[in-house]
Amino acid sequence: MLPFCPVLVRRAFVLSTFSGGHRRRHLIDPMDLTVEEIDQLLAVGDDIIQNPAKYSEICKGKKLATLFYEPSTRTRLSFESAMLELGGSVIGFSSADSSSAAKGESVADTIRVIGCFADIAAMRHPKEGAPMVAAMNSPIPVINAGDGGHQHPTQTLTDLMTIHRLKGHLDNLTIGLCGDLKFGRTVHSLILALSRYTGIRFVLISPKELAVPDYIKEEVLDKKKIPYTEVQSLDEAMPELDILYMTRIQRERFASEEEYLRLKDSYILTPKQLELAKPDMYILHPLPRVNEISVAVDNDPRAAYFTQVFCGKIIRMALILKLLDRIPAPFDQQLPAPERHQPQVVHNHLHCGNPRCITTIEQELPQAFRPVEEKPGAFRCIYCEALVD
Ligand code: NCD
Repeated sequence: MLPFCPVLVRRAFVLSTFSGGHRRRHLIDPMDLTVEEIDQLLAVGDDIIQNPAKYSEICKGKKLATLFYEPSTRTRLSFESAMLELGGSVIGFSSADSSSAAKGESVADTIRVIGCFADIAAMRHPKEGAPMVAAMNSPIPVINAGDGGHQHPTQTLTDLMTIHRLKGHLDNLTIGLCGDLKFGRTVHSLILALSRYTGIRFVLISPKELAVPDYIKEEVLDKKKIPYTEVQSLDEAMPELDILYMTRIQRERFASEEEYLRLKDSYILTPKQLELAKPDMYILHPLPRVNEISVAVDNDPRAAYFTQVFCGKIIRMALILKLLDRIPAPFDQQLPAPERHQPQVVHNHLHCGNPRCITTIEQELPQAFRPVEEKPGAFRCIYCEALVD
């Protein structure tokens, strides 16, 4: 019998801790929002575009902290612009070197401190699970702005808003995901989110070495019977796609530079290849682009990656309003939060072997796992979802 520690059952409360009778919400992965709540954010986003003046002072007196331990251009600046356009203000740091992490401060201590200064925080961290650890210890809402190669839920909200505005719906789509599907956290979050819409089909286009992690294939796609194929040729996949989601090969997450160099030019999208695509197949990319989309593609009316950046700011405005409980009428209906029951056990004699897991740098964190329904006897780390068996 495994030792059971009630303290760690906290994950069940991460997304909805209570404070002063109020439900405090965090956004750590896309399943922390229901489909109805995503619809609500999309509706608020559209309203922000139509009526920006209505929103310009709505967060007056509120402060956002951006805690970025890893490089960012779009995500950090879009969070900051979002809060400024809501009339609030912003504090934060943009690298681990300029924070007390450089002196060895834990994520838990940092968020407790930030909670004294700010009303909401967005955290990006190279270690997987760091924003979850922050949320477990935070007096304010925490948003995961990207954790290692794991999840990036606000990029997903951005992607959903972009697809919704371009296509008018989020169901009945064939979505091609191309590039680094192993380390690309935006891909992982997008699959989780889209897996709840009807008629979605994925075409996973990558070299074998960079395929979507098994936990997503087995515990999301297979479990929900969502059709998908894995292919290596982009040309072959192109004609059937409604959306092509290109991604960069994630150099910083490779254990070996040699392996990166071998795989870095796996896909380079050109205007010639686009001749194979449907006339209304849109091209998305979370950016930054390295060389996986030739600049000549930018002139194609189907290139939507800069529209996507605009949606990123708008949907983050909507998210900040939601987490601060400031969504205005008529969009302010109280929707039930998702019920997420993930049984957990502390298992201190097992260790997560993922070198990108937050437990590798924060030794005081309990080693905690959840049993894998599909694999009796196997566990996944609750922070990074690595398999331990
Ligand atoms: C992505 C990220 O950080 O995961 N960028 C972003 O936030 N828009 C994609 C990437 O870095 O490749």
